[in-house]
Amino acid sequence: MINIGVLASGRGTNLQAIIEAIKEGKIEGRISIVISDNRDAFALKRVEQHNIETRYINFKEFKTREDYDKKIMECLKEKDVDLVVLAGYMRILSPYFIRTYKNKIINIHPALLPSFPGLHAQRQAVEYGVKISGCTVHFVNEGVDSGPVILQKAVEVKDNDTEESLAERILKEEHQIYPRAIQLFCQGRLIIKDRKVFIK
Ligand code: GRF
Repeated sequence: MINIGVLASGRGTNLQAIIEAIKEGKIEGRISIVISDNRDAFALKRVEQHNIETRYINFKEFKTREDYDKKIMECLKEKDVDLVVLAGYMRILSPYFIRTYKNKIINIHPALLPSFPGLHAQRQAVEYGVKISGCTVHFVNEGVDSGPVILQKAVEVKDNDTEESLAERILKEEHQIYPRAIQLFCQGRLIIKDRKVFIK
């Protein structure tokens, strides 16, 4: 059974979708720990009801990003974590973390990468005037939202869409593809060659 460690900073709707997929037997893995940099993250509240261990680690107690990440990695190691899932985690991981967990960290981004990386992807899409956006699950490498793509789902952008209305429709699809990508990882079906991911 794959041990999943989740890093989350915010409301945690993706985390919720992952928990539900596990409960329904759609993911052959278990969440061993949820770590947050935000004491008030609603994500933490959601998991407490499910008997999943949580940990809040205060960034201010560490001198550097790497020191902070080392603390996180210590917790992940204690739990024998095989897969790190970023679920609305708002900090950039240090290269040290990324190298140590190479091809074992995944993220979801609310746009069709490589379009609109970085913050406010849905706003970027609305402002640019694209007709299609969507979401992307990808492995994390040392760039910003630039790692190998695992799954993507397109979402139509409507003429009257605001950042919020588009975000809401994209989010529904995020909740579908993130659990699916995690299951593929858990089944050992993701093969990475250079920057491409093949599904066995
Ligand atoms: C999602 O839009 C995700 O694509 C992005 O951060 C947001 C997290 O939302 N990486 P939630 O905390 O899962 O509700």
